[in-house]
Amino acid sequence: MLVYLKIYRYNPEAGRNVPSFDTYNIEAEPTDRVLDLLEHVKGNVDGTISFRRSCAHGVCGSDAMRINGRNMLACKALVKDVGTEITIEPILGLPVLKDMIVDMEPFFNSYKSLMPFLINEDAPADGKERRQTPQQLDRFEDTTKCILCAACTTSCPVFWSDEQYVGPATIVNAHRFIFDSRDQAANKRLEILADHGGAFRCRTAFNCTEACPREIHVTQAIAEVKQAITAGGVEH
Ligand code: SF4
Ligand code: FES
Repeated sequence: MLVYLKIYRYNPEAGRNVPSFDTYNIEAEPTDRVLDLLEHVKGNVDGTISFRRSCAHGVCGSDAMRINGRNMLACKALVKDVGTEITIEPILGLPVLKDMIVDMEPFFNSYKSLMPFLINEDAPADGKERRQTPQQLDRFEDTTKCILCAACTTSCPVFWSDEQYVGPATIVNAHRFIFDSRDQAANKRLEILADHGGAFRCRTAFNCTEACPREIHVTQAIAEVKQAITAGGVEH
């Protein structure tokens, strides 16, 4: 089948400092991924097109982009699902550096501000490992699936308009430790998220949940964090 591709272009270093679109008609199979189409154009038609990708299998999270107006991983979006007229643009709310490549530094700075690592000063009770029941794991297992693609955060209207807001992905990754019975810094994270720019900036638009390629219940995780703040902490 013939696919009509409309690809966002911006490259100030090469004189393309006004965003515009280039268009291409290429042959594709219904089961081709949008990433395959981009690779085809880059390899055979125009080598200057820039986009991030690595694993090509929905694991690394590097190729989140807007495909027909929705945040998706290009390696998970099939032609048969997105149609034969495909517009590809960078994710919104982060500075565009070149074509589909955005500056991820603000995203990762926000992520790091919530201490996304296990904090526990005590030795394990048996001197070897910190054990958990399946029920304790259930409290946070969903949010361990995050691959930091930024599709959620950059689909959030609050994030677009308020640079103070930490964004859904940061809260998801805070949730992963706040509800982990082995961690000892939940209150510190909740204190940060209770502040302006934290969890209560969320207006439950649900864009984040719809955008998440890992099907994490993002809005629910944010709601659980809000409840924990209101309750004054988490009981394990
Ligand atoms: S929660 Fe989902 S959409 Fe957000 S960064 Fe993680 S994997 Fe990506
Ligand atoms: S290239 Fe790794 S998630 Fe798509």
